Amino acid sequence: MLKKLLPCLGKYKKYAILTPIFVILEVILEISIPFLMSKIIDVGVKNGDVDFILQTGGLMVLIAVFALLFGAIHGRFSAIASVGFAKELRKKIFDKIQDFSFANIDKFTTPSLVTRLTTDVTNAQMSFMMIIRLLVRAPFMLISATIMAITINPGLSLIFLFAIPILASALFIVASKAFPRFKAMLKKYDNMNASVQENLIAIRVVKAFVREDYENKKFLDSAEAVRLAHFNAEKLLVWAMPIMQLTMYGSITAIFWFGGNLIIGEKMLSGELFGFITYSTQILVSLMMISFVFVQIVLSRASVSRIIEILDEEIDIRDDSNEDPEVKDGSVVFENVSFSYSKNKDNLVLENINFEIKPGETVGIIGGTGSAKTTLVQLIPRLYDVLEGRILVGGRDVRDYKIKTLRDSVAMVLQKNVLFSGTIKDNLKWGNENATDEEIIEACKIAQAYDFIMSFPKGFETELGQGGVNVSGGQKQRLTIARALLKKPKILILDDSTSAVDTATDSKIRQGLKENVSDTTVIIIAQRISSVSDADKIIVLDDGKINAIGTHEELLATNSIYREVYESQQKGVA
Ligand SMILES: Nc1ncnc2c1ncn2[C@@H]1O[C@H](COP(=O)(O)OP(=O)(O)OP(=O)(O)O)[C@@H](O)[C@H]1O
Ligand SMILES: [Mg+2]
Repeated sequence: MLKKLLPCLGKYKKYAILTPIFVILEVILEISIPFLMSKIIDVGVKNGDVDFILQTGGLMVLIAVFALLFGAIHGRFSAIASVGFAKELRKKIFDKIQDFSFANIDKFTTPSLVTRLTTDVTNAQMSFMMIIRLLVRAPFMLISATIMAITINPGLSLIFLFAIPILASALFIVASKAFPRFKAMLKKYDNMNASVQENLIAIRVVKAFVREDYENKKFLDSAEAVRLAHFNAEKLLVWAMPIMQLTMYGSITAIFWFGGNLIIGEKMLSGELFGFITYSTQILVSLMMISFVFVQIVLSRASVSRIIEILDEEIDIRDDSNEDPEVKDGSVVFENVSFSYSKNKDNLVLENINFEIKPGETVGIIGGTGSAKTTLVQLIPRLYDVLEGRILVGGRDVRDYKIKTLRDSVAMVLQKNVLFSGTIKDNLKWGNENATDEEIIEACKIAQAYDFIMSFPKGFETELGQGGVNVSGGQKQRLTIARALLKKPKILILDDSTSAVDTATDSKIRQGLKENVSDTTVIIIAQRISSVSDADKIIVLDDGKINAIGTHEELLATNSIYREVYESQQKGVA
């Protein structure tokens, strides 16, 4: 699985390659120290050769210094490589998410995308660091220490024939029992993250409904579930250490017993025994390290597979055509269009939609909540693709355009709109970064935003909070309309964009659009009949189907749904 992520290393690749090299150099040096020590005892001390002791001792110090140096180097390199890896990986995931269509985002949900970009990448980063350091160090140490021990005394090494399998199988049993428990634990973490994220995103709603206690309890429950699951997994792992120590001290006792007898029989030197014991410790410690690295890697497999899921996600709306035609005009034609969010014919949200809008026309769309008004207009800038039929914009199928070209010509003010942190001007320029001050002022005047912006002490330089929290709902809507106007679109779609604006201002905005951008096709979705009554034509949607198309007068005369809505709203006025 990691293989898939390796291309993400980018320019940090050389550090990822250098790290294991320095790890190996360090191990070689570390392995030689017990050997020199045994020589000091067996040759230097035994013969009272002070020069030999000093020389070998000096060599040992030198080796130790180099081992320290190499250790520091691979520590630094592995840090550079793994942190760089995480950065490149995050960038790659982020880039991919930017390409996601609305349907892709629906599938993953926002909180899970956030977890994947943060926690999951951190897990992958940790495993990566372990692999290039510990997973190189431990096996290499295990093998070299075993070779050294066998060189010193093959007979005594037979002890490892017992010790290693015992320790290995014990650790294996513990680890394999712990895996499923750790996996369960990660799931609980996911739940907890989801609960936190949902709460934070909706914190205003929580407060408005005074649901803090309920949310607190929900969070406590999920935190408790994490505690239990974590404890459940950890309580198995606590066995690893005692088993390890038991085997280690058992082996050392056996080595002393048999080794002592060999020394008495003058078949082994005491320095050799010293070296042997050091190597045996290194062997058993490496074994334990390997088993723990494996636990960690398996744990992060869940994270890695969640990351790969994103990288492998098929983007369902992409530029298929090689040509890049311009959008000629603002005409829109729907031909037998059907649509389903689940791409399933039995679950149609829009069914057999046919209509035609000429360039520069103003069209209203009216229909009950859930009648698929938003769904219908989202198909025009290809936020979703049709299931059947086709949509023509400027006389061509929307799928013939490059997505950027199409969306630059079709500005849509979304029903659930957001502003970004930054000044009002930054936010407006977000629609068109090359907009001049005059253009900005003109767009704001059309959208009836100019007066209230100028009423702020800092005018266009007023800082907006995250999501535009410090402007009112109606002000926010007018800013988003101005932002869309700055794109100078051929088609402007307003999805319930004046719902929070009073009727008089609403009418002024429509007047402004008519006078200033008369060649732009305007599609207005509204709940209020008054918002669409002066449109060139009005489409009445009912449960995903077109119920009627006509002017205000025609519909009043012929369409019962329209008349009912109109009369109920008139009553409200009266
Ligand atoms: N992203 C989505 N995934 C799945 N189903 C969806 C999605 N968005 C909307 N729907 C469903 O599609 C249907 C039409 O929704 P749509 O938002 O188009 O209605 P609407 O007419 O705009 O309603 P409103 O007036 O409340 O804005 C609804 O039944 C809704 O549950
Ligand atoms: Mg809607």
